[in-house]
Amino acid sequence: MKLLSFVLWVLSLSIAPAAASQPDFDQGVKVRPAIEIAREGASKMAGAQADAPADAGQEESVWITISKEDVAALGNEFGFPSRPALAAGAKLSVYRLSVGELDRLTEVMHRKFRRTGYIAHPTEAEAREAAFAPEAVPAARAHTIDQPEVVEPMVARVEEAEIGRVVGQLASYKNRYYRSETGAAASRWVLDRWAELAQGRSDISAELFPHSWTQASVILSVNGAKNPDQFVVLGGHIDSIAGYSGADAAAPGADDNASGVAILTEAIRVLVKSGYRPSKTLKFIAYSAEEVGLRGSKAISSTFKAKDVHGVVNFDMANYHGSAEDIVLITDYADSSQNAFLGKLMDRYTGARWGTTKCGYGCSDHASWTSAGFSASFPFEAKMGEDNPNIHSARDTAAQMGGDFQQAAKFAKLALAYLVETAK
Ligand code: BES
Ligand code: ZN
Repeated sequence: MKLLSFVLWVLSLSIAPAAASQPDFDQGVKVRPAIEIAREGASKMAGAQADAPADAGQEESVWITISKEDVAALGNEFGFPSRPALAAGAKLSVYRLSVGELDRLTEVMHRKFRRTGYIAHPTEAEAREAAFAPEAVPAARAHTIDQPEVVEPMVARVEEAEIGRVVGQLASYKNRYYRSETGAAASRWVLDRWAELAQGRSDISAELFPHSWTQASVILSVNGAKNPDQFVVLGGHIDSIAGYSGADAAAPGADDNASGVAILTEAIRVLVKSGYRPSKTLKFIAYSAEEVGLRGSKAISSTFKAKDVHGVVNFDMANYHGSAEDIVLITDYADSSQNAFLGKLMDRYTGARWGTTKCGYGCSDHASWTSAGFSASFPFEAKMGEDNPNIHSARDTAAQMGGDFQQAAKFAKLALAYLVETAK
């Protein structure tokens, strides 16, 4: 939908245009009927778009941190030699890029490395901080396993078909690119589905988290019954990308990362069906703009900086069986102590075969939370190099993964075991 007709449509709903303010992350989020939540989300989207002429004109600047190693390996392919770094830490350099240049860098890096690996920051100050910050050390947390009577019946409720339904829906958009209307529509679909699942629960609410670009992130909160100021975060990105081909290319992103959002959705469905009420506050987050430098998770994790986040788990690519293991824990940009806990949870509750592997760079949204000083983990589908070869292309479909969702179901069980044992 064109921006003008979108705005007219929103006005036709005859609701006051809401400011593009950030959602309130404190507890006490009111429960509203799904339609009201959806309408408010739509008006926030319109507000966010009206506030973002840069999105249309592509003049918005971002600051990236990129490893000196990658800059050297790129040689003259992006033009780094003639572009002075604004700053350089021990491993990372800081550059200022327009959004158009960011697209081109994504293209060049994809072609050369089959990955990107830069991280985008909204301000120069934040990029400099990231380039010079010592590794953030998260607070030590007690990790205990003593809730089998709650976890076991929940894990038994996970249904592959439910996961498949969400993957099918999300993969049906031409793409979920962060600057496309279909990307924005996919986020609204997730908002509606999550709000529908939350019906009848006054302690659960869902809302959009708008950004300066077209596609919003989506957040569902389950307010903690005893310690609402303590947070447990489960997330995964909703955006997709076809290599570097921009807003018009087909990018079903069934594995990368409809699978992750489907796992979050299944965990929400099962927890509501089970009547489960956590002591701590749970946040389920579908991040926008992961594929262009972790921009959505960076914006959201920074709103939690002064808050007590007990743990974060990221789901990104969970349904391709490329290794002997079902689930591998990424060891870099992740908390080793929480990883050990996840290993024990898998042994106790999921029957998944698991191992570890290294990404080699901040390859997904867990890295945003790690940089913000929190304990974050990233359970992944395969050993590095054995993962789905079809991602970032029109071939990333459910059919290419065999058409079943067995592996993603194991991740959903891990998500449920983790949230119950952490939010108690
Ligand atoms: N799902 C991928 C990350 C990934 C791909 C991990 C293959 C392990 C194996 C993610 O969506 C992605 O593509 N990330 C970018 C980096 C990010 C900082 C933009 C990438 O890997 O190019
Ligand atoms: Zn991904």
